[in-house]
Amino acid sequence: MKKRLKPKEIFPGVFEIKGNPATKNLNPGNKVYSEPLIEIDKTEYRTWNPNRSKISAAIKKGLKEFPIKEKSQILYLGAAEGTTISHLSDIVGAEGIIYGVDISARSMRKFVYLCEQRPNIVPILADASQPNSYKEHIESFSVDVLTQDVSQKNQAEIFLKNSRIYLKRDGYGLLSIKARSIHSTKPVEELVQEEVKKMQNEFEILQIVSLHPYEKEHAMIYCKKK
Ligand SMILES: C[S@@+](CC[C@H](N)C(=O)[O-])C[C@H]1O[C@@H](n2cnc3c(N)ncnc32)[C@H](O)[C@@H]1O
Repeated sequence: MKKRLKPKEIFPGVFEIKGNPATKNLNPGNKVYSEPLIEIDKTEYRTWNPNRSKISAAIKKGLKEFPIKEKSQILYLGAAEGTTISHLSDIVGAEGIIYGVDISARSMRKFVYLCEQRPNIVPILADASQPNSYKEHIESFSVDVLTQDVSQKNQAEIFLKNSRIYLKRDGYGLLSIKARSIHSTKPVEELVQEEVKKMQNEFEILQIVSLHPYEKEHAMIYCKKK
């Protein structure tokens, strides 16, 4: 007899199905990238591919807590075409909001289309290293979670600048570190520790997760604003 699929809720709004994270589709019948849709008991889930999303990779690699839930307000730096944001949009639901910032006009075109399908995402074409430049687009100056995935040399500095303006006290951060954007040869652990040092005055570091093998030479820093 065929075994019935049963989603296991690993964090509020995040499920495990067939060994991978998945979210309930806020826009049923529609895919965002090539993610498989799975229907179980009349609910449609979207498989959250850890090879396409660093947050999904961090969950697969043992992230112990997950700060994003229904109604969360999020500032997301490095939105690209919205692959990861689409899953966060599933989780925060109609009463949550995600401000997605990206510098690339090319990515933004596809991202804006996604935002039209999902009213809980606000697209912002801007440079994340100039956080004052997008103040007018962000209604809330105290988001619950700041997430960042930008391929730049000064990743901790960009994260800190944004957190000082937009992240509430006791708010959480998920900072994805791309080691090779910072230095071409230094060991990843050393580079991550250098970024952590820059953050420690203002953030409590809760967990550092290597994203290998889903993303080589990347780590996720999970932290809480002091
Ligand atoms: C690896 S991609 C992000 C993928 C995305 N987070 C996801 O999982 O769906 C990195 C993105 O950072 C953006 N980026 C690089 N520098 C930036 C900056 N200074 N400000 C805003 N976005 C930037 C790039 O345009 C690119 O879309």
